[in-house]
Amino acid sequence: MFRKSITLSLQDEINFLKKRKKFAISLSNPSFEKKNLRNFNLENFNVQKSLSGEEKLIELAKKNLLRQWIIKKPKENDIIITNGAKAALYCVFKVIANRQKKNNFGIVNPNWPTYIDLIKISGAIPVFFNTKIENKYEINIATLEKFIKQKKLRILVISNPNNPSGKIYNHQIIKKIINICEKNRCYLVLDESFSSHVFEKKFTQNKKDYKSKYLIIINSFSKNYHLQGLRLGVVLAKKKLVEEFSNLHIAINGAPNNISQNLIINHNKALLKTKDIKNKMKFVTDFLFSKGVDFYKPEGSFYIFPKILNKKNFKNLSKKYGLFYIGGENFGSKIYKDHYRFCFEKNINELKKIIQIMNKNKIY
Ligand SMILES: Cc1ncc(COP(=O)(O)O)c(C=O)c1O
Repeated sequence: MFRKSITLSLQDEINFLKKRKKFAISLSNPSFEKKNLRNFNLENFNVQKSLSGEEKLIELAKKNLLRQWIIKKPKENDIIITNGAKAALYCVFKVIANRQKKNNFGIVNPNWPTYIDLIKISGAIPVFFNTKIENKYEINIATLEKFIKQKKLRILVISNPNNPSGKIYNHQIIKKIINICEKNRCYLVLDESFSSHVFEKKFTQNKKDYKSKYLIIINSFSKNYHLQGLRLGVVLAKKKLVEEFSNLHIAINGAPNNISQNLIINHNKALLKTKDIKNKMKFVTDFLFSKGVDFYKPEGSFYIFPKILNKKNFKNLSKKYGLFYIGGENFGSKIYKDHYRFCFEKNINELKKIIQIMNKNKIY
């Protein structure tokens, strides 16, 4: 049986408790502000349009989500819109898995648990490359290349910025990873679904050339712009590959959601705005720092992956005081069992409440 999404299940549990008037907050999930739009044009809303996504939305994706990439030979590459990054990732995994009988797909840990689910659903085997807080979640290139060779990887997946650690791999490292992937004929799936949440300029100053035929970029409108409900993702890859991804996407979805695409196209000025959440990150990291908690200060995303200091308190008291969390062991390896994911993309009052409870009861 396929398991239910680890991260969405927790959100479900919180909603269930709230409906029963119980005090419950997720430490690990975002609570997005709700948006309202008036005067939405619903003309022709019931028809399917371009099967690979609306041209105007693809342009907006290039300008916003893919702005870090210089797409050198536009004729050799292609971009499609999908019903969320999840659907995009599934199509990528399934298409590559379909080419041979046995496939190992590597994931750089700590990882977003859905990669494991999607790789398994596509019939491939997830294998893991751990990075550690002691080494600032750095990737050692020689060790990674050995791993790619030993495991005969067909795909390597990295989320950059990383969910849950907030680590960003800079241009130089990414270039080196692209090179070793190319050398070993392994596709690099770079999931940049948090690309707008970057806290240090040094990561956005230089643009990167998009050229390797083994590089597949995934992005999403969900987290960058609080538009999770619209279910819109993006894939950038070589034309031939994109054609196959798109064929699979069409088989299971038809065209990408027309209403969602139109919403963004017609209201892009209002909708494609990124909120600066550095202050929220600072608020939480200042607190953790003051308590002597071991954590990696996020350079991007809206997550922190701290090590639990008072294990007894954390495990015994958090639920009692209404705080629910996703434990570190869910992020790809048991080596993270003493960590948990903390999400700071929340209303500031909610964040203050959480810190107050944690502080008072020594839950950290
Ligand atoms: C790293 C990463 N990629 C992709 C997604 C999902 O994006 P979408 O909502 O577009 O499917 C998430 C959602 O949490 C994520 O954390």
